[in-house]
Amino acid sequence: MQRRKFLAHLAATSGIAFATKPLVALAMEGMNSTHGMEGMAGMHHMGGMDKMGATQQAHSGGSANTQLAPTSALPAGKPFVAPAILANESTAPGHFKAKLVAAPSHATLMPGHTTQVWAYNGQLPGPLIELHAGDKVEITLENRLEQPTTIHWHGLPVPPDQDGNPSAAVAPGKSRVYRFTLPDTVEGLYWYHPHPHGLSAEQVYRGLAGPIMVRPKKDALSPIPERILAVTDLRLAADASIPANTMMDWMNGREGQFALVNGQHRPMLRFATSGQERWRILNATNARYLRLALPGHTFTLLGTDGGRIEVAQTGLKEILLAPAQRVEVLVAATGRSSAALMAMTYDRGKMGSVSATPSLALMNVDFSAAKVGASQQAALPQPLREFAPLPVPVAKKRVVMTESMGMGMGHGDMQKMNATPTTNATPTMDDMPMKMAFLLNGKAFDMKRVDLKSTVGAWEDWEIVNDSDMDHPFHVHGTQFQVLSRQRAGHTENVVLRAWHDTVNLKAQETVRVRIMQTEKGIRMYHCHILEHEDLGMMGRLDVV
Ligand code: C2O
Ligand code: CU
Ligand code: CU
Repeated sequence: MQRRKFLAHLAATSGIAFATKPLVALAMEGMNSTHGMEGMAGMHHMGGMDKMGATQQAHSGGSANTQLAPTSALPAGKPFVAPAILANESTAPGHFKAKLVAAPSHATLMPGHTTQVWAYNGQLPGPLIELHAGDKVEITLENRLEQPTTIHWHGLPVPPDQDGNPSAAVAPGKSRVYRFTLPDTVEGLYWYHPHPHGLSAEQVYRGLAGPIMVRPKKDALSPIPERILAVTDLRLAADASIPANTMMDWMNGREGQFALVNGQHRPMLRFATSGQERWRILNATNARYLRLALPGHTFTLLGTDGGRIEVAQTGLKEILLAPAQRVEVLVAATGRSSAALMAMTYDRGKMGSVSATPSLALMNVDFSAAKVGASQQAALPQPLREFAPLPVPVAKKRVVMTESMGMGMGHGDMQKMNATPTTNATPTMDDMPMKMAFLLNGKAFDMKRVDLKSTVGAWEDWEIVNDSDMDHPFHVHGTQFQVLSRQRAGHTENVVLRAWHDTVNLKAQETVRVRIMQTEKGIRMYHCHILEHEDLGMMGRLDVV
């Protein structure tokens, strides 16, 4: 049976929910002091979906048949708010000190209901961390969740032992301090989120993610009003609870019926009277692709993950922002009185009888007070930023992304993998004749294995191959890269735009070449940033020596 047909059948016949409790055990392998975890040894060798169901336990909500709240359940149209700012407890110049508490918390999303979320300092999304290039940063994480967690500083050049790797999980009830100093050259919009083994998807969709803004020493565009838009995804059941992932979520990555901007449902942004704004947009969703468009307007692309690009790209009708990516765009009033910032439909090749993600409005923009006219267009510096020519690479690597589905796996096989017997009556993956895996170079993640080796300071060309039927956003920790070329369906495009990225999207059967260099010794992760795929093992470890 073909993959899609088989999965359509599966989706139609199962109401399977995946519990997260057993995954706690997986994540605990990453804690410094673990007790009684011997029984879990070997769990991490089990790639793929099977580990989910094999130890499934009951968890509130989360069936594929959970009744969802209608999209009208969340009020829309409230005034746009900027993200809450994490206060700096230090008064010393160039020093940022603060605390983030990850804990269950209550939010009123649907009027008259409370929703239990997991949040940093009780805020959805997590508060904005405002930093400057060169800052010394000290942030304490207190884990008040019932499961291990870490904080990963996505995209920032942070020492490996401070970067929230799955192997350095913070146990429930424990705290730790993350310390790092930013280089003088770093700038742009970044974000922080949990990275425990097997639990990242749930921790993020329950609310744990927040933006980080790193300001450069000099910013020629600072007179233009700036907005930070942190986009998160939300699924709400009819009773206002956040349901657990379904099997289809595990396969395709979770997308709820809502996308929020700075925690708000479709806010109304009153555009600056000057007629021009710069928007910095973060895709902090588990798996939702944001094909951004503002009808009647075009975007001028100013920056990507790593901040300013070399030359502004004008006249863009749409921009695709894959999960974890960021952009900075310039928007100018055109005379229309209003427009909606859209995340337009995008077909990323989801499995099963699942249609492409439908279009939705992220926010409305009221231009009625905005001046229109060329005189309002600030002259953009040319270039926006200097880019030194890339050094010649001294090594090459290849990472191949695959989805695999083994059919007809017997009960014996499943029992071998069952480290803990399940006693509940709900159906488990035992009942399913399949074993789904998302792999890199044919392997599922293993916290004890080194997959690739690099040398500090050595420039390398990485060839990333998506040998699968759906899009996967590829991310590497600790550094950023430039995209050299993209190849798909026999057509090769050399990328001339110079820009820094830490996450690059690959369409089905696409190959992307990037040039990359790591600056510090230690273990770095690279993985698919659809968080469900990451949790299922589409992740590897790079040892920088
Ligand atoms: Cu956004 Cu491995 O991270
Ligand atoms: Cu990262
Ligand atoms: Cu993926």
